[in-house]
Amino acid sequence: MDVQALEREAQSAFAGASTPAELDEARVRYLGRKSPLKQALREVRDRESGMSLNAARERLETAVTAREEELGRAELDRALAEDVVDVTLPGEAQRRGHLHLITQIRREIEDVFLGLGYEVVDGREVETTRYNFDALNFPEGHPARSRLASLYLNGDVLLRTETSPAQIRVMESREPPVYMVSLGRVYRRDTPDATHNPIFHQVEGLAVDEGITLADLKGTLLYAMRALFGEEREIRFRTHYFPFTEPSIEPDVSCFLCDGGGCRVCRFSGWIEMGGSGMVHPALYEHVGYDPERYSGFAFGLGLERIALLRHGLPDLRQLWDNDLRLLSQF
Ligand code: DAH
Repeated sequence: MDVQALEREAQSAFAGASTPAELDEARVRYLGRKSPLKQALREVRDRESGMSLNAARERLETAVTAREEELGRAELDRALAEDVVDVTLPGEAQRRGHLHLITQIRREIEDVFLGLGYEVVDGREVETTRYNFDALNFPEGHPARSRLASLYLNGDVLLRTETSPAQIRVMESREPPVYMVSLGRVYRRDTPDATHNPIFHQVEGLAVDEGITLADLKGTLLYAMRALFGEEREIRFRTHYFPFTEPSIEPDVSCFLCDGGGCRVCRFSGWIEMGGSGMVHPALYEHVGYDPERYSGFAFGLGLERIALLRHGLPDLRQLWDNDLRLLSQF
């Protein structure tokens, strides 16, 4: 075999390859397992022809690698020249989400009370009957304790039916003064309709200190309602009953739509019911070891969905749970 002629042929084939595929073809032909060169190397008998064949093989391999790099660089140059990026083209718009309406209202309320020096405290969504009922002075046999009304996990463990157990947990953990709000989900065995959902949100408030009166409750709620519904709002109280407050009061806020004149939203009364409140029942102090002679306090609980519905004139609170962006993106 004429090694020199073969090598010349191979070199010019490598140099003439203008694409990686062509180069690969040439490499298989001249350096592959079945190439004449490899064949000859397998059959070599004497040292001299072995050395010259090997030297030729090495030169050819070096040549292939060099040509490979050349072709790669050429390809890169071509791509850089052709695939020009026009940086002035508008980008692909990314749709940006935002917080859910209930989360917005939750944060708004937290801000209002943080501004008044309150602490924001996390309660527990899974509670025991002790915190959800007993310590809140619910009598045995109260309908809320029923398995038909509340969602029990087992025995005396249930999904909290209100945020009020947070009052007990906070009072248990420290001495007065206590100024706290606690916001979150609560659970009831209700059939969903326009104004009910088995899961909803409440804000709980609690202030315990020396010399707290009903006037402080009224002033605090008035401040919060004005922050949420506008500076012109007024507050009125109606007496009510809750096991954990005495006296118990239901606050109404003057209708923000008709300014008290009467409309559909306030059912032509000029007032809108906001939730429950009252002076903390002394029985709660007994449970947590506070001195009821020394301390007094108020508490309140409001529903966040209700605030959202009122503020935005939504007809059905289930819409807040449907995750329909056509609705949610409006707020
Ligand atoms: N926990 C009551 C409910 O879910 C709301 C409530 C009423 C909370 C009076 C309070 C309160 O803190 O003082 O209906």
